[in-house]
Amino acid sequence: MKFHKAFFRGTSATQFLPIVCFASGNGTNLQALIDAHIKIDMLITDNPNAYAIQRAKNADIHYHVVTKKKEWINAIPNNTALVILAGFMRILPPDFVNKFRERIINIHPSLLPSFPGLDAIKQAYDYGVKYTGVTVHYVDEGIDTGSIIAQKAVYIPGMDLADLEKNIHQVEHELYSMVIKQMLRYDGLNYVV
Ligand code: GRF
Repeated sequence: MKFHKAFFRGTSATQFLPIVCFASGNGTNLQALIDAHIKIDMLITDNPNAYAIQRAKNADIHYHVVTKKKEWINAIPNNTALVILAGFMRILPPDFVNKFRERIINIHPSLLPSFPGLDAIKQAYDYGVKYTGVTVHYVDEGIDTGSIIAQKAVYIPGMDLADLEKNIHQVEHELYSMVIKQMLRYDGLNYVV
C-alpha cells in the first residue's frame, strides 16, 4: 500500500485529530468502520433521509445534514486528519479537494480505472469481465480518478448479479477498515472508541 506522506506525521500527532465521514445513503460502509472501532468524530450527509444518520446516532457520532456543496468546506474542522467518503454521491468542489488534498479517501466497487462512476458493479457484470473488485483511492478533482491506495479482486464466474453485489459489499467492508487502520497507524488502542 502506498500512502502519501501526510499520514506520516506520527501517531501522537494524528491520534486526536478529527476523522470525518461523508455518506449519502444506507451507510453500510460507515457501519463497518464503526464496528471495526475506527474513531469517527463526525458524519456529514447531503441527504436528510440517509440511513447513515441513524447509524451515526446509534454510535453517538455527531452528524450534520449539509445539502449545499459550498458549505461542506466549513462544515468540518480545519485540522481534520482524514475525510472518509463512504457512499457519498456528490462531487466535492475543487476548493474542498485542495484544502484537504491527500487527506480524502473513497471506496469504489470496481477495480479502477475500470468502471468508474455509477452502477460500477453492474457495469462490470454486464461487460463480462472475469474479475472485478474494490478500490480504495485518494480523491482528486475527477470522478474516481485519484491515486490508488489498495485493491482487492473478486472472481465473477458462478455468481449472478445479486451474489456479486453481496460479495463486493463484503469485500468493501473488510478492505476499507483494514486500509484506514493502516493509514492511521492503528496500534490496537489509539483508535478504539
Ligand atoms: C458502496 O458500494 C461504495 O463503494 C459506493 O457506494 C456504496 C455505498 O454503500 N461508493 P453504503 O452506503 O456504504 O452501504
